[in-house]
Amino acid sequence: MILDLKNKRALVCGSTQGIGKAVALELAAMGAAVTLMARDEEKLKQVKAELPVNYGQLHSYMVADFNQPDQLRSLMSNFIQRSGPVHILVNNTGGPPAGPVQSARVEEFQAAFNAHLVCNHLLAQACIEGMKLSGYGRIVNIISTSVKQPLPNLGVSNTIRAAVANWSKTLANELAPYAITVNNVLPGATATGRLGAIINGRAIKTGLPEDVVKAEMLHEIPMKRFAEPQEIAAAVAFLCSPAAAYITGINVPVDGGRTSCL
Ligand SMILES: NC(=O)c1ccc[n+]([C@@H]2O[C@H](COP(=O)([O-])OP(=O)(O)OC[C@H]3O[C@@H](n4cnc5c(N)ncnc54)[C@H](OP(=O)(O)O)[C@@H]3O)[C@@H](O)[C@H]2O)c1
Repeated sequence: MILDLKNKRALVCGSTQGIGKAVALELAAMGAAVTLMARDEEKLKQVKAELPVNYGQLHSYMVADFNQPDQLRSLMSNFIQRSGPVHILVNNTGGPPAGPVQSARVEEFQAAFNAHLVCNHLLAQACIEGMKLSGYGRIVNIISTSVKQPLPNLGVSNTIRAAVANWSKTLANELAPYAITVNNVLPGATATGRLGAIINGRAIKTGLPEDVVKAEMLHEIPMKRFAEPQEIAAAVAFLCSPAAAYITGINVPVDGGRTSCL
């Protein structure tokens, strides 16, 4: 099974912490030259310094804010001209704030649509031509199990994630003839800053202590534990590898069995 990513360039978004950082570390360990992307330049520098360089590959980073799609578009166009093709694109950013859908403001949907769907789209558009020319393309979108089963109190997120999943499936069908795969990884509850914020939000909403909220969340997971970011990264890395060449247009839940449907 070929997992080697030597001579491949990967762009990993939302990679200063959590799932994105774990993905960047894993892809670099497999040989890819990784470009990190997020807003916090200091953290980007720190993560870049942590990336393995066993194959002599050169890593880099780009500062970008997914709340500014127009800036992202011109940033990506300059980057591709300067650095050449991206073979692997991992679309990932912070999740929308929690809350019930009935009280969600229109601006919250618009912001989440921009940060998740529009930015994924601009990034993919910037990378597709190079993927076609180089004969290697992997696009992996980090979404959520809410694509299969909406989660309580994540109204805006549940809504926008569905749009991203259907965008992804459509793109997968269009790009399949070029040997470019497009897949979605759906993390379950994963031990990152995002999970901490969700637990805190539920505790405030219900008036329950955080450890009770956490115990309730664990109760819903057949494996009775949260995922480590590295466990999500392993699924992403496999989908980015040559071994996964015939897998496209799918959702891969990595959730300890929490999603109750197939
Ligand atoms: N953790 C979970 O339990 C879980 C479960 C299901 C789905 N997910 C989803 O998986 C994704 C990653 O989750 P995570 O837990 O790893 O999140 P996280 O720990 O909050 O990390 C988010 C990353 O995205 C970057 N980011 C946030 N806002 C950004 C923006 N406006 N522009 C550019 N970069 C931005 C952050 O870096 P900067 O702050 O430096 O920009 C950070 O590197 C999220 O969409 C989340 O909702 C997570």
